[in-house]
Amino acid sequence: MATFVVTGSASGMGAASAARLAAEGHTVIGVDLRDAQVIADLGTLEGRAAAAEEILGLSGGTLDGVAAIAGVGPNLPSAAAVMSINYFGTVALLEALRPALAASGAGRAVVIGSNSASTVPLVDDGLVDLALAGNEEGAREHADAAQAAMPAEITAIVPSIGAYASSKLAIARWVRRTAVTPEWARQGVLLNAIAPGAVLTPLMLGSTGREEDLDADGFPTPMPLGIFGRPEDIAFWVHQFLKPEARYTTGAVLYVDGGTDAAMRPDAQ
Ligand code: NAI
Repeated sequence: MATFVVTGSASGMGAASAARLAAEGHTVIGVDLRDAQVIADLGTLEGRAAAAEEILGLSGGTLDGVAAIAGVGPNLPSAAAVMSINYFGTVALLEALRPALAASGAGRAVVIGSNSASTVPLVDDGLVDLALAGNEEGAREHADAAQAAMPAEITAIVPSIGAYASSKLAIARWVRRTAVTPEWARQGVLLNAIAPGAVLTPLMLGSTGREEDLDADGFPTPMPLGIFGRPEDIAFWVHQFLKPEARYTTGAVLYVDGGTDAAMRPDAQ
């Protein structure tokens, strides 16, 4: 049986992924702000360092896979915090755990991005560049300034939508750039991303309202399948990417969004 790390394991997609892996008998080290084996705030430098140290201690320095799922949505008031949690927390933890993934001989990492990286027109290229340059302080300042300059009609509904979409585009680009470097690819550590669409989790319902009031056909983005995703729909693909048999895919961004991205960008390939 294998040993996996799942961040964001206390809720939504992370909880569903942890449950799926545990049901197969694997050891799952959950990481979250609460209700997890490793309690840590991945939005802070100290939290990331402490989480990595504890995970390496619990795993003995060898990991079969990491599912980096912890994250926040566009309704978080602080745009700076969105960048720190969704981008910098994810990158820092994966970089710290890469040697443990390499030690297994067939390490797998999967990251949760979002289809908002390509479907939300408020992506901030300057913010994406700051993130990819590893400039957390600069990104935090830029995110807050951009948020302050955004029309109040938008920020009243989704205060951090620009930072959110930018954090998810940055993480998808980081995955594609990083997966092909020798430190990952030639160590047998595969790194992929999933870009979910609207999935019924506490995060999404916190910004859109009750599940019974939601109508896929009335959603702001096209929903070709006419349904919302469930956490298990994402957990299914998380599981596939973590399998040793998934040996020839790295640097991929898989849209699991009921067809939204294809409907909005049919010719993107
Ligand atoms: P959720 O709110 O149900 O679960 C997220 C988990 O991450 C929570 O348990 C939370 O405590 C944890 N978390 C948040 N900040 C953290 C921090 N600083 N340190 C450690 N843990 C932290 O949300 P959901 O929907 O399952 O989200 C999972 C991922 O999917 C997130 O990265 C989110 O941005 C992304 N996503 C969600 C979509 C949706 O429609 N639900 C759509 C696209 C992407």
